[in-house]
Amino acid sequence: MIRKLFRNAHIVTPSDPGTSLAGKRQAEVRHFKKGAILCRDGVIEAIGDEKNVEASLSPRDVDVEVDCAGFCLIPGFVDPHTHMCFAKRREEEFILRMQGAEYLEILRRGGGILSSVRAVRAASEEELFSVTLEHALSALEFGTTTLEIKSGYGLDTETELSMLRVIDRVGRETPLDVVPTFLGAHAVPEEFAQSPDNYVDLLIQEMIPAISEQGIARFCDVFCEKGVFSVDQSRRILNAARQAGMGLKIHADEVYDLGGAGLAAELRATSAEHLLAASDENLRAMAKQGVIGVLLPGTAYFLRKTYAPARKMVDLGVPVALATDCNPGSSYTESMPFVFGLAVLNMNLSVGEALVAATLNAAYAVGMGKEVGSLDVGKSADFLLLDGDSPAILAYHAGVSPVAEVYKRGELVATN
Ligand code: NIG
Ligand code: FE
Repeated sequence: MIRKLFRNAHIVTPSDPGTSLAGKRQAEVRHFKKGAILCRDGVIEAIGDEKNVEASLSPRDVDVEVDCAGFCLIPGFVDPHTHMCFAKRREEEFILRMQGAEYLEILRRGGGILSSVRAVRAASEEELFSVTLEHALSALEFGTTTLEIKSGYGLDTETELSMLRVIDRVGRETPLDVVPTFLGAHAVPEEFAQSPDNYVDLLIQEMIPAISEQGIARFCDVFCEKGVFSVDQSRRILNAARQAGMGLKIHADEVYDLGGAGLAAELRATSAEHLLAASDENLRAMAKQGVIGVLLPGTAYFLRKTYAPARKMVDLGVPVALATDCNPGSSYTESMPFVFGLAVLNMNLSVGEALVAATLNAAYAVGMGKEVGSLDVGKSADFLLLDGDSPAILAYHAGVSPVAEVYKRGELVATN
């Protein structure tokens, strides 16, 4: 047994009431000006004002002591939405977009997601692993300690299984907690272009059963979008996934208001993601059902779109989470500090709201709320030392990472 005491830190953290935080509570964070965390074998045993934490301890009880003077200590980021398992970047497509080409138009012409599918199908599992590992370790350096990664560039049973094996391996071979999501419904593959309903049948009859049999996906996600999967198709796929024991997520109303947010509420999905175009009525339905809105400001930034109405969502009572959406097409970044800055400066979230969104609510969005996302007794000692006086530094010191040190289960795993 190893006991570590982290002392002399300005600690800022949400406190976990057992569920995600919404409405006015979205901004609820605790501050300990001169705080301490005691952890035992990587699990938090005590947290609070230093004098209170130390009162119950004799020096003999502590094996390692770390002085955190000058740093602000916050929970490790949870990035609840990424597509960082891919084989090749799409820099040429980015240049085309900067010259005016539309994201969905590129996909319609067989590029976009479909070009990533060709690259992943052509890559070996080892190549795919090494690229994914690189992105995951970059995320770790930027302070992400729990990471969701979606499949969805295979679009056939064999390649999707291979992606999920790679994602699982990233979790086993890095300090990160990795949550795998099956996104076989990311696009209709070229071989089914003339018969998209047959691909939906394949997803339901072959892919979901094969994946659930191996137990390597915690969630199932669908890209519910005009020209991709309709609300009806998405409903069929998600119902099948639920029956197979997976949690539900949905890429909803990213470009058009198709009703994906309403479907998420109807199915009481864990989360609905993107939501740039979601209607007020469907946002209210999400709030009522406690569906977490995972917002991806990096995507609006990259696609030069209007940001999701984060303020309105908080005001309507939707629990809001933040994620990078890290992928080669619409948001190529592993940086939660960058996303945090966009949320504060361009979406008008307060620093407290953004912190809850990037930690506790994000943890609930990936079914990990009981283990990570806040610095509460019994949770994993996953935290960051920021080179600043408060979490505002994440937005204020733009274009760089103020994350000085990253701790996972009480161990130093990255320094900058
Ligand atoms: O979340 N919207 C669909 N999927 C991703 C983009 C994936 C890609 O372009 O490769 C997204 O934005
Ligand atoms: Fe996405």
